[in-house]
Amino acid sequence: MFEEQPLSVQNRVKSLASEAQTQNQPYAWFEPLYAQASGNADQVPWAKATAHPYLQAWLPGQPQPPAQSKALVIGCGLGNDAEALQAHGYQVTAFDVSPTAIAWCHQRFPNSAVDYQVADLFHLDPSWNQTFELVYECRNIQALPIHLRSQVVGAIAPLVAQTGQLLVITRIRADEQACEGPPWPLSPMELAEFETYGLVETERATFTEGETITVQQVRITYRYAQG
Ligand SMILES: C[S@@+](CC[C@H](N)C(=O)[O-])C[C@H]1O[C@@H](n2cnc3c(N)ncnc32)[C@H](O)[C@@H]1O
Repeated sequence: MFEEQPLSVQNRVKSLASEAQTQNQPYAWFEPLYAQASGNADQVPWAKATAHPYLQAWLPGQPQPPAQSKALVIGCGLGNDAEALQAHGYQVTAFDVSPTAIAWCHQRFPNSAVDYQVADLFHLDPSWNQTFELVYECRNIQALPIHLRSQVVGAIAPLVAQTGQLLVITRIRADEQACEGPPWPLSPMELAEFETYGLVETERATFTEGETITVQQVRITYRYAQG
């Protein structure tokens, strides 16, 4: 759900993110943000004590996955969504570019069966391609600048197994709407890029939230046409 963040957290995100953009290292700000939070999740703007509400609402309608079905959680942050998918019956791999975030996941869930890994979405092990029955992408694409969008979509789509599905939760904007991120909500044209990889939208829920500021979000599932 959309919650307005305290000004101090907003300003810290803005300043770390803009410094990273200036240095042409668009995702270099996540590790310092987690490190500077020093174990206080209130300092991580997207962190929640539970799984994302739109994932929580989606999961009960999903059949129990067959034994050994693999799920991949992209940019897993502090791990709640990965844990929810593991509890649903998936064998979950969850990765994040931030070593501090992954260490934090281990600390929060010391007995977890989730395979938490430090990894960069843009340099993943090619053996992961077409491996996962569920690929879960929540609020990571929108956290990366628009000039990386095609690259991000191109890194995510091949991970989905031919019989699998992709679940995306993201803010959206109109194609013609400019935005100054982070976050950089996705436009219909940008979302349509998943279809160039053969993925077809199978379900969409749209959510409008916020009072002073209104935010539009979607939860979309995709499958391969022949899946
Ligand atoms: C806005 S947060 C969202 C975290 C989580 N998915 C959620 O919804 O709570 C973006 C996450 O993506 C991670 N991230 C950013 N760039 C990444 C990359 N290139 N590879 C892997 N993870 C990345 C960040 O460290 C951060 O945890």
